[in-house]
Amino acid sequence: MSNFCYFVDLYWHQLTFKARPLPDDILLGGQTAIVTGSNVGLGFEAAKELASHELSRLILAVRDPAKGEAAKAEIARVAPKCDIQVWQLDQESWGSMVAFAERARTELDRLDITLLNAGLKRLEYTRSPTNHEAHVQINYLGTALLSLLLIEPLRRTARQTGKPGRITITASSVGFNAPVRDVLSPQGGSSIINWLDNPASFVPGESRYCLSKLLDMFWTRALASRLDASDVVVNTLNPGYCQSAFHRVDPTAEKASKYFAFTTVEGGRHLTDAAVRHPDSHGAYLSEQRIRSFSKFILSTKGEEVQQKLWDETIALFREECPEAHIGEFAKGKSSVDR
Ligand SMILES: NC(=O)c1ccc[n+]([C@@H]2O[C@H](COP(=O)([O-])OP(=O)(O)OC[C@H]3O[C@@H](n4cnc5c(N)ncnc54)[C@H](OP(=O)(O)O)[C@@H]3O)[C@@H](O)[C@H]2O)c1
Repeated sequence: MSNFCYFVDLYWHQLTFKARPLPDDILLGGQTAIVTGSNVGLGFEAAKELASHELSRLILAVRDPAKGEAAKAEIARVAPKCDIQVWQLDQESWGSMVAFAERARTELDRLDITLLNAGLKRLEYTRSPTNHEAHVQINYLGTALLSLLLIEPLRRTARQTGKPGRITITASSVGFNAPVRDVLSPQGGSSIINWLDNPASFVPGESRYCLSKLLDMFWTRALASRLDASDVVVNTLNPGYCQSAFHRVDPTAEKASKYFAFTTVEGGRHLTDAAVRHPDSHGAYLSEQRIRSFSKFILSTKGEEVQQKLWDETIALFREECPEAHIGEFAKGKSSVDR
């Protein structure tokens, strides 16, 4: 899709599409859901909507437990019977993510829905404590690692219930507008992740955020191709351009959001729709609450090569930088020596 068509499509949907809430007859009694980044914004609204459909247990996975408790109190008002728990999770810390997943593995008797939603946008280069560029770390590596670590409880539940678990990754259509040269021919060596971590690759503005969402789409496809849809259905979605604190670092986007953006509630509805409905969406991308095609680049032979390379690099990185993470059958990646 050309840039022009991309923006026409974006604005057309922003101005005409109205996200529907989950139908009343969707009842989630007995089920457990984890929502990351659920103290505010789209994650909060999605968590609230899931809870209000009789969800039995909701894990609010949040960086700041005090903010999580405030969110819990608000959600409890609409879903007093839901067991709402606040668990600390920082996607800038390998230790925090591993401890979170271990807790899920050992404390949850079932896990049905995992909504990997936490993310950020920065217009300037920032390095995470793990030494990766912040979008790479939080939006991509953190999401990818959690998706691997939570497969075990999802699969275990699928075997008990005879119904596949769900992993939904919040991406964005901006991923289709990312500068693909950075993943096609990374400079400074052959590694995509090393290149994106390098401050020399950073162009001030939104492009690194867009790239991180492109990586999320590649990861969704790569992971889905390695999972059986009868165990876990993995999909990714575009919530559209939404009002939330997300755009606080970007005055232009924040100002425009007053005119074009969906409300935060509407944004959350895109998340719940992808996480609960569409059982046929394994490896798929949803936008406007329906399955839509990935970009031509993602689907091309070159895109497939990037997807495989990114998978190999990511698995090797987890083995090296986070050896305490049990990534089981996925650990058979190349080591950094091969990268
Ligand atoms: N808003 C939009 O227009 C839009 C459009 C497309 C896609 N999205 C995607 O939707 C998702 C949610 O965005 P939003 O609009 O709801 O933004 P938001 O209101 O800023 O919420 C982002 C959430 O992510 C959490 N988070 C950030 N860094 C984290 C970390 N290191 N560890 C754990 N959690 C972390 C935040 O926690 P704190 O509150 O502690 O910072 C917050 O809960 C993001 O993935 C975003 O890329 C948003």
